[in-house]
Amino acid sequence: MDNNEILRRLSELKEEKNAVILAHNYARAEVQDAADLVGDSFTLSQAAVDLDADVIVFAGVHFMAESAYILSPQKTILLPDADAGCPMADMVSAEALCEAKKKYPNAAVVCYVNSSAAVKAESDVCCTSANAKEVISAIEEDEILFVPDKNLGHYVSTLTDKKVHLWDGFCPIHQQITAHDVLAAKSRHPDAVFLAHPECRPEVLKFADGIFSTAGIIKYAAASSDAEFLIGTEQEMMHKLKKDSPEKSFYPVSKYAYCANMKMAALPSILNALETETTKITVPEEIRVKAKKSLDRMLEAVPK
Ligand code: 13P
Ligand code: SF4
Repeated sequence: MDNNEILRRLSELKEEKNAVILAHNYARAEVQDAADLVGDSFTLSQAAVDLDADVIVFAGVHFMAESAYILSPQKTILLPDADAGCPMADMVSAEALCEAKKKYPNAAVVCYVNSSAAVKAESDVCCTSANAKEVISAIEEDEILFVPDKNLGHYVSTLTDKKVHLWDGFCPIHQQITAHDVLAAKSRHPDAVFLAHPECRPEVLKFADGIFSTAGIIKYAAASSDAEFLIGTEQEMMHKLKKDSPEKSFYPVSKYAYCANMKMAALPSILNALETETTKITVPEEIRVKAKKSLDRMLEAVPK
């Protein structure tokens, strides 16, 4: 089946099943173009609640589909490839978190949305890269245990007076972007504005002119009067950046910043997911209810 035929069939099935396709900004370009909504983790979580759909196909990774189910269990949430995980999310388990909570009994646990439902269930509140600052400010406690991303946690610690304990987790894709990559890119493009994702190392963020979530980077670049940008995040971001601002130039700081898990949803696997309603993502009810509290607190801390 060619892509046009897949797109035609997808649109029939979406109508028939009252389904939508949500895609992350790191999804394949052709998947983004076929999606009903493309966004960052926060936008996609909110859409899972707000959209009047019976079925959501998630062109992203497991924790995103899981969050959609936690927030909207009455909807059928489909992940085209059940193996599309997030290595950073796997760097903290509920058991290890429970042990750490004993060490820091007075700390509020803030978990990045890139985490399992079981970890969310053991946390006080979730955050995304788009709202971490607001979430931290809304917390009463002066001490925070931040899991699993040490880079986002470190960045957040620079925005607050609270004491932030960091977990030793990271995104392998962002972690391999080095300060040397940034300096080399800056010497090639001395006039470019450097926009970075907070999952990057602190020594990379030190050089950034703007630090935003994926949607924040796209919004900033589209509104900016500058013409050239260095982009410190996953390379598929170039698609939307160029689409929104074809007259501007965008250069990835690292050509190796590629998340294979985010590419697992391809047009044929999305069609298969919708046709066969696989793989359905669910969470045991006891964990879902507790995890939902953490996600709800995040959504409340950041009014629409
Ligand atoms: P955001 O799109 O929320 O910035 O997240 C980036 C990311 O790495 C998602 O896995
Ligand atoms: Fe996980 Fe990093 Fe891939 Fe995002 S880009 S899904 S944080 S591995």
